[in-house]
Amino acid sequence: MSLRRAAIPIVLTAAIGVTAHSHVAAAADSADSGPPIVTISVPEALSAQAELGQKTYEANCVSCHGRNAAGRDGVAPPLVHVLYEPGHHDDESFQRAVARGVRTHHWRFGDMPPVEGLTQDDVAAIVAYVRELQRANGIW
Ligand code: HEC
Repeated sequence: MSLRRAAIPIVLTAAIGVTAHSHVAAAADSADSGPPIVTISVPEALSAQAELGQKTYEANCVSCHGRNAAGRDGVAPPLVHVLYEPGHHDDESFQRAVARGVRTHHWRFGDMPPVEGLTQDDVAAIVAYVRELQRANGIW
């Protein structure tokens, strides 16, 4: 009998894990769920490249990583975060994430799928945008 009881929490935990994973795609469709994870100061001005990057970011990444890359609770992490500073995630790691997707390792939001239809220049502009946000928020 005690064996049977012990099994219940394990099964529940597994079910929650599965729900959390499928939540990524579902929550990304709803602009209302997933409040920001960090508070961001928006820089007064962006470089021309970063401005371009912001547009591309808002078309391709904002649904998960949130406005101003502040993350979305339950969906995806903030990119304005010490984890993603250049010394830890260099520009190439952004290119890789977009081209190949990301297997979840730092957070519990599930995997990031590859993002189709972006050139390396598009991603370089997104990186410029994210770096300027990081700078404005004292990340590096
Ligand atoms: C469907 C949701 C989704 C979309 C769309 C998305 N991401 Fe992600 N991204 C995630 C999640 C979730 C993670 C965290 C994975 C983990 O646990 O480390 C992540 C992680 C990352 C990382 C960290 C990579 C690493 O090596 O750890 C970068 C960089 C990134 N995303 C950039 C982008 C950019 C740029 C875009 C838009 C072109 C984008 N993401 C679009 C969900 C998304």
